[in-house]
Amino acid sequence: MTALQLDGRHIVLGLSGGIACYKAAELTRLLIKAGASVQVVMTEAAEKFIGAVTMQALSNRAVVTSQWDARPDNNMAHINLTREADAVVVAPASADFLAKLAQGRADELLSLLCLARRIDECPLLIAPAMNREMWAHPATQRNVAQVAADGAVVLGPAAGDQACGEIGDGRMLEAAELCDALIAFFQPKLLAGRTVLVSAGPTYEAIDPVRGITNLSSGKMGFAVARAAAEAGAVVTLVAGPVALPTPARVTRIDVTSARQMHDAVLAAAAAHDVFVATAAVADWRPIDAAAQKIKKVAGQGVPAFSLVENPDILAAVAALSTGPYCVGFAAESHDVEAHARAKLERKKVPLIVGNLGPATFGQDDNALLLVDAKGTRALPHADKLTLARQLVAEIAARIKS
Ligand code: C5P
Repeated sequence: MTALQLDGRHIVLGLSGGIACYKAAELTRLLIKAGASVQVVMTEAAEKFIGAVTMQALSNRAVVTSQWDARPDNNMAHINLTREADAVVVAPASADFLAKLAQGRADELLSLLCLARRIDECPLLIAPAMNREMWAHPATQRNVAQVAADGAVVLGPAAGDQACGEIGDGRMLEAAELCDALIAFFQPKLLAGRTVLVSAGPTYEAIDPVRGITNLSSGKMGFAVARAAAEAGAVVTLVAGPVALPTPARVTRIDVTSARQMHDAVLAAAAAHDVFVATAAVADWRPIDAAAQKIKKVAGQGVPAFSLVENPDILAAVAALSTGPYCVGFAAESHDVEAHARAKLERKKVPLIVGNLGPATFGQDDNALLLVDAKGTRALPHADKLTLARQLVAEIAARIKS
């Protein structure tokens, strides 16, 4: 289980009017679950879509709806609310609310507190939600560009089915995507301006059209590395073998099946990246020729024989490029992790090998890593894979900086 990722963060969650207000209820629940405290602020229009009672129950705090709320001693809700906040998140942000932000208007509490916040200390994140024609309108596009230029982070919108029955851009991101985006926002941008290529998952080597050789790698560690690198501000390409995992936000994914396909995809991309992290469990061998048709079981004819040939070593090939990326290999061992990792460091000629116990971690949500390089060994103790991936990203960032 991933550690509380928003522990100690205080979020002002603003709702402006829109049917996507129902997603703000789930977002509140997820933020609280991630360890944040949440102060909900609603516009009059938002209250037409969801009750303040619901938002109060989920946030465990009285919802604030008016700049004339006399409860604060100084009667200045619009100032007090953001002074203690780590961020203001407006979800949903309606077309009208974006227009207000763009103009710096302050005729109700939510726009007023956005304007009154300390711009360098309390970031503003907005999740637009509206009909696709409203989103595409030049006025809205102008407003959202202005709001972004003024420093707000714009999350989404996504494309898809809309409550009005139309299909297009303007759906608010899902609550889980918004929560993850906020978690990512708070991560240190250690890889800003860098490009990172990650290989992940197993490969599948066909024997015939229905059978093949593969392994138990789930891809979870590699996907966590891709997510952590993207959170750290890198532009990330993920070359994934056959796994059923969702693509992390802001990561470009290339799906492959066999080791040779993974080799071709990685080699085509490698020179354009600053870092290559090879987490994939690439099959060492493949059948020389996959049978074109299913090999039939025939009584009395014994078992089929097929010969294997070695697959290309993707990591070694990238490490051998004259102007290639900084290479990080993984060593999934069943014993003697450090000795095997160190041997791999020399054999593959890479600057960093990350050792782990393969059988103990394949398919699991947690792991323990051993970082082995020319200078020595460092253990990253048992934790969930995302926490370890963030630590590994920090180690890589420190190494490529020097
Ligand atoms: O010992 P092994 O060759 O399996 O080393 C594992 C490391 O090498 C991992 O980083 C893995 O992704 C990479 N590798 C590769 N291509 C192969 C075999 C392993 O990139 N054919």
